[in-house]
Amino acid sequence: MATALPSSVLVVGSGGREHALVLALGASPAGPRILCAPGNAGIAEIAACFPVAADDIPGLVVLAQRENVEFVVVGPEVPLSLGLADELGKIGLPVYGPTADGARLEASKIYTKKLLLKHNIPTAPAAFFDDAEAAIDYIWARRMPIVVKADGLAAGKGVVVAQTHAEAEAAVRALIALKSQSKFENQKSKILLEDCLVGEETSLLVVVSGRDYVILPTSQDHKRIGDGDTGPNTGGMGAYSPAEIVTPELLARIEREIVRPSVEAIAGEGIDFRGTLFIGIMLTPDGPSVLEYNTRFGDPETQAVLPRLASDLLELLWAAARGTLAGYQLEVKPAHALCVVVAAHGYPEAYPKGDTILLPVPSDLPPSTVIYHAGTAKNAAGQLVTAGGRVLGVTALAPTLRAAADAAYAACDSIRCASKYFRRDIGARQLRRS
Ligand code: AMP
Ligand code: GLY
Repeated sequence: MATALPSSVLVVGSGGREHALVLALGASPAGPRILCAPGNAGIAEIAACFPVAADDIPGLVVLAQRENVEFVVVGPEVPLSLGLADELGKIGLPVYGPTADGARLEASKIYTKKLLLKHNIPTAPAAFFDDAEAAIDYIWARRMPIVVKADGLAAGKGVVVAQTHAEAEAAVRALIALKSQSKFENQKSKILLEDCLVGEETSLLVVVSGRDYVILPTSQDHKRIGDGDTGPNTGGMGAYSPAEIVTPELLARIEREIVRPSVEAIAGEGIDFRGTLFIGIMLTPDGPSVLEYNTRFGDPETQAVLPRLASDLLELLWAAARGTLAGYQLEVKPAHALCVVVAAHGYPEAYPKGDTILLPVPSDLPPSTVIYHAGTAKNAAGQLVTAGGRVLGVTALAPTLRAAADAAYAACDSIRCASKYFRRDIGARQLRRS
């Protein structure tokens, strides 16, 4: 890499993904100072945290200047959509995370669907509506199941896979109600209806810098709250890497049919994308098909993928931000990682906050096991307490997926918290196959 690595890095966000980013960036041989805004109780143990919200764009710009930060790595989608990278770019600060035009690939499902269709990138056929009644008429003329999507960012609540006409109609009405409260004014009532794809999903994280890219190790998320993929969708309840269902041959096909055309299509739109293109892919019997793009690292995929990198994450993200990614050779550990999300009971609906958490001391953890913090805080008495729906992410790295699962679950069992809930079957599909 041509340019010297930055000596200070600001990570924006407060979840398990950001804890994993902070830990991996801090492990760089360059020894950077790591700052985080706003962070959480776990991040505060390894980085300087500042109480600036991830969507406070002016506050983050002031913080970056005041602290003489040399590089900013953005975790969540909202600050990207609000133009954080654009504003930091104006003061000459390198950023990992796309500008608002690139973030639109996540913020607008209709924009992305049109881009995919225009470039013949495999994706489910879809129809677009501005008006709920027209969408509902269309639904009643179609065969079920059908997938109902709201156009804008909806914190994971914008997609319903409807099995019946009545369910699809109700989903349209609910999305309209949800979007009428949206702060993204221009996305209030747009609806996308698409054919339901069947298969297993995989998350592909791609570090993109203009027309150059590096594909990170494969992973698979577990979106539903309950064991056996039951119950409502969540932000993600656990992940593992590698996802062996994506064989080297299948990955080559995905790169040829999806990754390369996507990167070219985005660059062709005039977007100088420097950040993570997270491609949600359905592995259908007819081949891989794009479900969505996100324009950031996945959560909890990141907590399973980053521990497997042998390369210096700081060097990789810095090269992407600086436009020097061409020829980058990623090095990956030949190990399996498995991350179990520990949530507060009740998530993704209402859940308690402020429950005390007792973590095992690090020396009592199985080897190569890390507890990432997500929704954690310290109370007035200095105790660690729950402060969000997804509370912790427990990742173990081991020579086999079975050993990783055993270690991660042993650690989960040793965490004491009255409201703790986690799925017992993370990785089960791959374990059954192997
Ligand atoms: P999205 O935010 O578009 O990825 O959708 C969230 C989740 O809804 C995906 O991870 C899938 O589980 C499901 N989903 C989205 N689109 C489809 C589709 N066309 N067919 C089947 N499931 C889908
Ligand atoms: N785990 C899915 C996501 O980050 O959107």
